Amino acid sequence: MCGIVGYVGPRDCTDVLVSALKKLEYRGYDSAGIAVFEDGKIAVAKTKGRLVDLEAKMQKQGKPQGHAGIGHTRWATHGEPSDVNSHPHSGRRVTIVHNGIIENYKQLKQFLIDNERTEFLSDTDTEVVAQLLDFYYDGNPIRCIRRVLHELRGSFALGIVFADRPETVYAVRCESPLIVAQGQGEVFIASDVPAVIKYTKDYYLLEHGEIAVLKNGGVTFCSLHGRMLEKELLTADWDEDSAEKGGYPHYMLKEIHEQPTAVKTTITPRIENGLPNLSECGITPETLRAFQNIFIVACGTAMHAGMVGKYVIEKLARVSVTVDIASEFRYRNPLIGTDDLVIIISQSGETADSKAVLNLVKGTGAKTLAIVNVKGSSIAREADMVIYTHAGPEIAVASTKAYMVQLSVMYLLAFEMAFAKGKIDEDTCRRLTAQIVSMPQVIEKTIGAVVDMCQYVSTKLISTDSLLYIGRGLDYALSMEGSLKLKEISYIHSESYAAGELKHGTISLITEGMPVIAVATQNSLLEKTVSNIKEVKARGAMTIVICDEEADIDSEATDYLIRIPKISEMLMPMVATVPMQLLAYYTSVNKGNDVDKPRNLAKSVTVE
Ligand code: M6R
Repeated sequence: MCGIVGYVGPRDCTDVLVSALKKLEYRGYDSAGIAVFEDGKIAVAKTKGRLVDLEAKMQKQGKPQGHAGIGHTRWATHGEPSDVNSHPHSGRRVTIVHNGIIENYKQLKQFLIDNERTEFLSDTDTEVVAQLLDFYYDGNPIRCIRRVLHELRGSFALGIVFADRPETVYAVRCESPLIVAQGQGEVFIASDVPAVIKYTKDYYLLEHGEIAVLKNGGVTFCSLHGRMLEKELLTADWDEDSAEKGGYPHYMLKEIHEQPTAVKTTITPRIENGLPNLSECGITPETLRAFQNIFIVACGTAMHAGMVGKYVIEKLARVSVTVDIASEFRYRNPLIGTDDLVIIISQSGETADSKAVLNLVKGTGAKTLAIVNVKGSSIAREADMVIYTHAGPEIAVASTKAYMVQLSVMYLLAFEMAFAKGKIDEDTCRRLTAQIVSMPQVIEKTIGAVVDMCQYVSTKLISTDSLLYIGRGLDYALSMEGSLKLKEISYIHSESYAAGELKHGTISLITEGMPVIAVATQNSLLEKTVSNIKEVKARGAMTIVICDEEADIDSEATDYLIRIPKISEMLMPMVATVPMQLLAYYTSVNKGNDVDKPRNLAKSVTVE
């Protein structure tokens, strides 16, 4: 997704903008650019490609010198990645960077053309906004911004500089996230805190419709209606090191290794006297008792955490759970009752489709619960209740530790709900809770146990075009995540299939040597899964089986066995996830892919 940064202060502005943009690289981008006040004029440098290409260009052409400016990494939505479509975009007196989408840009462009504004250089919606700002600019920047905001439809954030307002940066948030960070005599804007954490931990969260004016190393805020605002200064509870690779070759590997700590930090404050206690998140046994049906709505990996949640909640609490992809749920006119609970799971808390679900649920009378990793994010603020996962910043596009902590929260919720509804007794609840408390050590042990085997098996996957992940029950829910992880970073086509469903069509895809990865951690289903493994093996598949260290698996059915520690069947997903992550990671590394920033993908998907 696009990244915005901005700076006003004593440092070399170009250096600050480029270093801040580098910290947003994880969001995914295809071009980059900056605009800096240089000797009272706005100097622009931009290019298709990576930030190193921008740096090379500036080295050739001369680097803009100044102390105030804006910067951008673009993830193309309107118009192909090219120099000319890169941000910043300018009107005659206004230059902007933009994140998000302007839905009515075509009408606005027509309006400008009808008013003899025809100097469009790019195919972007952003340039239309720059021209519109210029069209309405009468020497009063705030009045002009407010006027234009009333005309724009969509979700977006803007960084703006006016040629006749040197050393001043304006910022606007309409849905798309934007923060203003306050340092000693300097001030920044950024799409995300990691961009500027190196300079300061103190930041303001811009709310929808708010405008910030950065000047003289400080900031003032006003509303869309022009009212001055006092805002609360927040402090990030993590530092630059947490957002760095810390000696690992990739963020993804670092984040896989951070999982034991992430789970521990997430569950510890939610356990009291050996039982789950989610009351600090607004969830009490009384509220849990009242819910009739549960909807879990999310996208991608977060949705897969919801799939595991469904199995566990239904099994223990005997409440019906429906899991939906957010972009489908929105349009299927779901039957939500006043006694229902809608759970939105999101690492970023900014995913546009998941966010839209909250708006849809409002007015139905149902309660909403957000399970979110990023503090103060839109979804966290808009839901009735929120459980923060404490994974720390997740930088790699492929989600790993965020999924793991989402699973841990799903379990805690299931245990507390089952106990509250009288479906399990206190002893059982304590026993289950003790098991989850032991998970950090088990995950740690699993990483050590499987890393070599995963590295080796990944060498068998690199030359394949297509593979299948199969499993039954919880293993099927889990294999969905294994398959997504593998395909998104290795670029190998991969499908996850319910093992028992293969015979109904998909088995015809099996050809000599095609890899099939079977997740077989559910002992109660083991025999049946082994039969399915044999079926594909008999048709020439190369079988890779993930199972516990005691599972009795016929060696003739398997080419490669990845053994993981044996724990209770219900908690196996938190262990079996590890080899799936490592298989994806090493396959991507062996193929020479950009592991942390896979092609075409963005970390936080703030467009629908
Ligand atoms: O920030 P969110 O959890 O809402 O993001 C949802 C998906 O976009 C995300 O999980 C995506 O599928 C990841 N790339 C998966 O690794």
